[in-house]
Amino acid sequence: MIEYRDTLAGVEEAQLRGFFVGWPHPPSPAHHLRMLHGSRHVWLALDGEQVVGFVNAISDGFMTAYIPLLEVLPAWQGRGIGTELMRRMLDSLRVYYNIDLMCDPDVQPFYARLGMRPVGGMVVRHDMSAIHQTTPAGE
Ligand SMILES: CC(C)(COP(=O)(O)OP(=O)(O)OC[C@H]1O[C@@H](n2cnc3c(N)ncnc32)[C@H](O)[C@@H]1OP(=O)(O)O)[C@@H](O)C(=O)NCCC(=O)NCCS
Repeated sequence: MIEYRDTLAGVEEAQLRGFFVGWPHPPSPAHHLRMLHGSRHVWLALDGEQVVGFVNAISDGFMTAYIPLLEVLPAWQGRGIGTELMRRMLDSLRVYYNIDLMCDPDVQPFYARLGMRPVGGMVVRHDMSAIHQTTPAGE
């Protein structure tokens, strides 16, 4: 039975193992938890104590929300968990004017089914291995 939560209360690093599959420099569970705490909105999917899926959103609290990460652990994929996490997150973000995320073209149909539409974009990507050694800007 999957439980969905929009709070990090009581969640510890050990519950966040196994994410960032295929990333060359995956954030550690400690960094993962830090990112989630730095996010204005979070939805988690839990199977018992194990977090099996998550989505987070950062925001100015007024107009814009950005969804940087959505992931379901491989063993739990294909069971509707990603859809439910996104459905709940989009509902949490319904007050904002723009809700944005970046994704590869092959995942666009997944998001289109949730009412999202494709647009163009521009990005900068720094060296992730260097990011892990530094303190975030402004701290
Ligand atoms: C994308 C992801 C979150 C979907 O989670 P999930 O729990 O497996 O999704 P659901 O079970 O709700 O799947 C719903 C539908 O989306 C489709 N889908 C899932 N992942 C997809 C992908 N990567 N590309 C295209 N379609 C996808 C499924 O085939 C399913 O369609 P169906 O119902 O017609 O079979 C999950 O595959 C994942 O964590 N992938 C790795 C990380 C990632 O790519 N995150 C998104 C970054 S933008």
